[in-house]
Amino acid sequence: MNDIYSKVLDRVDIVDVVSKYLPLKKNGSNYKACCPFHQENTPSFVVSQTKQIFKCFGCGVAGNAVSFVKEYEKISYYEAALKLAQQYGIKVNVDKFSRQKESKTSLILQIYSLAKDFYRENLSLHGKMAVEYLKSRSISENTIKTFELGFSLNSQTALYNYLRKNNVNKDILLESGIVKSNNKGYYDLFSNRVVFPIVSSTGVTVAFGARAMDNAMPKYINSPTTAVYQKSKELYGFYITKHEIAKLDKVIICEGYLDFLRLYENGYHNAVASLGTSLTDEQVSLLRRYCKNFYILYDGDDAGLKATLRAASKVLSQSGEAKIVRLPTGEDPDSFLLKKGKESLDGLLENSPTYLQYLKDSLELSEAMEVLLEVAGSIINQLDRFVFIKKVSEMFGVEESVFSSQVKTKKVYFEKDNNASKNQLEGLEERLLLMVCMSEKSKLQAMVSALSSTDFLVSEYRNIFEELVTASADETLNLNALACQSKFPQIFNELIVESEQGKSVDFEQVLNGFRIKKEVNAIKDLDEKLVSHLNSETDNSLMQEILTQKKNAKQRLVDLGYNKTKI
Ligand code: UTP
Ligand code: MN
Repeated sequence: MNDIYSKVLDRVDIVDVVSKYLPLKKNGSNYKACCPFHQENTPSFVVSQTKQIFKCFGCGVAGNAVSFVKEYEKISYYEAALKLAQQYGIKVNVDKFSRQKESKTSLILQIYSLAKDFYRENLSLHGKMAVEYLKSRSISENTIKTFELGFSLNSQTALYNYLRKNNVNKDILLESGIVKSNNKGYYDLFSNRVVFPIVSSTGVTVAFGARAMDNAMPKYINSPTTAVYQKSKELYGFYITKHEIAKLDKVIICEGYLDFLRLYENGYHNAVASLGTSLTDEQVSLLRRYCKNFYILYDGDDAGLKATLRAASKVLSQSGEAKIVRLPTGEDPDSFLLKKGKESLDGLLENSPTYLQYLKDSLELSEAMEVLLEVAGSIINQLDRFVFIKKVSEMFGVEESVFSSQVKTKKVYFEKDNNASKNQLEGLEERLLLMVCMSEKSKLQAMVSALSSTDFLVSEYRNIFEELVTASADETLNLNALACQSKFPQIFNELIVESEQGKSVDFEQVLNGFRIKKEVNAIKDLDEKLVSHLNSETDNSLMQEILTQKKNAKQRLVDLGYNKTKI
């Protein structure tokens, strides 16, 4: 056993291993990504090449290449080591004892791998009809190869016999779901169909979809949920397109196998199919690790529109951007591209409205507000929720405080980003200010002259502001270097990432909001003082002093443009 570990750890490079699962970005001498083990929008997951370890500063999980695969794939150490050994062509002795310990999971994966190769071979050797069918649907040989399309023979037991010949145990066969049994014996789930392997994000075949080549019902048969496959967690095509998705920071989401393949044929190498009508939170979460921008391209019918809007709100709840792409009634991406070509689709994509714009254009204000309250409440990241509320109130012309007061935050089943979330709650305005400070040097300088560190009540934020003030005197502002020296590197790093948003935020407005909040708090404090002094015997001059202070604070509020009636 130990032999496998040390051999594998000696030979693999953790950066290479992890980058098969996550889009790693170079960050100094390390690599960074959003942590796959908890929900977060700003990367705190760090991989060190020199130390050959990973660590998440958000949730604390840490380890080496083998333990990463173990955690990610939810398999044992032994299986993770074995998997890496196979992947990297490392020869290891697998003894009998270890073999018995192979879990059901890896046995089922072996069955899917055998079946995929069997179907693929069937297509080239005995799949004349299937090849003709694919041709009739304008699927090229290249695409067939890339997505390893196959063919299930016109037989009830071809796959069963093949797998038995390969010594696969009957019980495990049934658990795989692609062989079934009745009182007459065992039979294959698919026969006489074109087979689409569904590949996990790490490149392992975990399920199949299979289409009839005529009008037989059902049109598609999909393999069932198993120990290795949950439909809600996989995306068709993702393993091939994930790099392009990360590179472009954009994904096109369609519904069907053929839609996806047609997009791919037309050079859209950043698409996925969600395989069913509704995009799930897990699918969005997986995609969010790779990109921020989602183009939702479902069928041009009512069901497609409903699914599109549902999908869009899920994207927003995880701080992504959603574009609503609408096809003409009766078309899906496949039929549209065949009829109208790539330029037409490019046009639709380019002109597609954001989800907010779509709601504004297509709904009455009151209807839109209902939807937007739901969406706002579902946004997991508190800072993003805050930014969203600001944006909605500006765009729809509603009073921010009124809208905000009606937002009910939903319980989310995701593990929340606990780190600094308490601070986010207490100091959203302060955090927003720092975000703006970091977005541009000129904004930082303006902020330094407008504020002092005592304006910050959350100690971490005050500290970071002080660090920024010191750095603002330097010629060039190197935020990454500052983050390394910061007393709170984690929060600092989060802010660097968030400062991207800071660019679009109006500096004056944020500063104004911050000052107003400060004055309102000061007035509250003074009121409390007044009340406490009313009950005790205090000399009049102290009362007068407090009243004057209150009057001054009120005047400052008026100067800041704050509505008098609210004071
Ligand atoms: P559609 O009925 O829109 O089919 O289902 P399609 O993708 O346009 O397929 P073609 O062009 O007729 O070949 C969309 C998706 O829903 C799932 C499949 O994933 C399909 O691609 N589906 C549909 C099934 O799983 N089973 C079905 O019987 C039908
Ligand atoms: Mn179709």
